Amino acid sequence: MPLFDTHAHYDSGAFNADRDEVLSNLPAAGVALAVNPGCDVESSRTAVALAEKYPHIYAAVGIHPEDCAGCGEEDFAAVRALCRHEKVVAIGEIGLDYYWAENPPREFQQMVFRRQMELAAELDLPVIVHDREAHGDSLAIVLEYPEVRGVFHCFSGSPEMAAELLKRGWYLGFDGPITYKNAKRAPEVAAVTPLDRIVVETDSPYLTPVPFRGKRNDSRYLPYVIGKLAEWKGVTPEEMTDITWENGKRLFRLEE
Ligand code: NI
Repeated sequence: MPLFDTHAHYDSGAFNADRDEVLSNLPAAGVALAVNPGCDVESSRTAVALAEKYPHIYAAVGIHPEDCAGCGEEDFAAVRALCRHEKVVAIGEIGLDYYWAENPPREFQQMVFRRQMELAAELDLPVIVHDREAHGDSLAIVLEYPEVRGVFHCFSGSPEMAAELLKRGWYLGFDGPITYKNAKRAPEVAAVTPLDRIVVETDSPYLTPVPFRGKRNDSRYLPYVIGKLAEWKGVTPEEMTDITWENGKRLFRLEE
């Protein structure tokens, strides 16, 4: 079974020199599907353009909490319009980021997050949630929209928070940091996560797994994330590849 990278930023400037080469070569490297989330209106448009150009790329569109400063009705309208595109499979990435002091104020991030959750409810689309150092508020806001499901990208919350999301039908995304020596919570979270709710992501060009940590990431490094999860869950890497392929297709409704 091929690989499905459910979160990669190929619109990033890190791929300006060789984007076409990297993307064209993914299927031959076994990566048959990838979802490129947007971070603002411009990058969402680029994600859609990449999805139009490459059959194996799908787009998500949305406004990331780190990039939401100054965003208003025009931006929400632009995201809504992009959602009509046939290769847009989700709204994302959206959420809360309390890590960086220079990020937009928390209340503003929460407003932008809620507006996009409302849109997901209205359009019946899954969401890709970014939650960094904002676990309590992120969980509280998604619980306000019980009809909306999706994935917590690069999940970094507690096993208890994971359980709350899992019982409501959410998926959890696992990324390169699970291969780092200091990954303490990830094995505990993986232990409480059923196999049918795990998706694997690279977050390319970021979060490169060991042994390539420090280099630019791309979807071809996904097997290192899959290998670690397979070890923790007691299945073979081949089985984990098949499972995460099916999960990604179910999450983003790409099943035939
Ligand atoms: Ni991301």
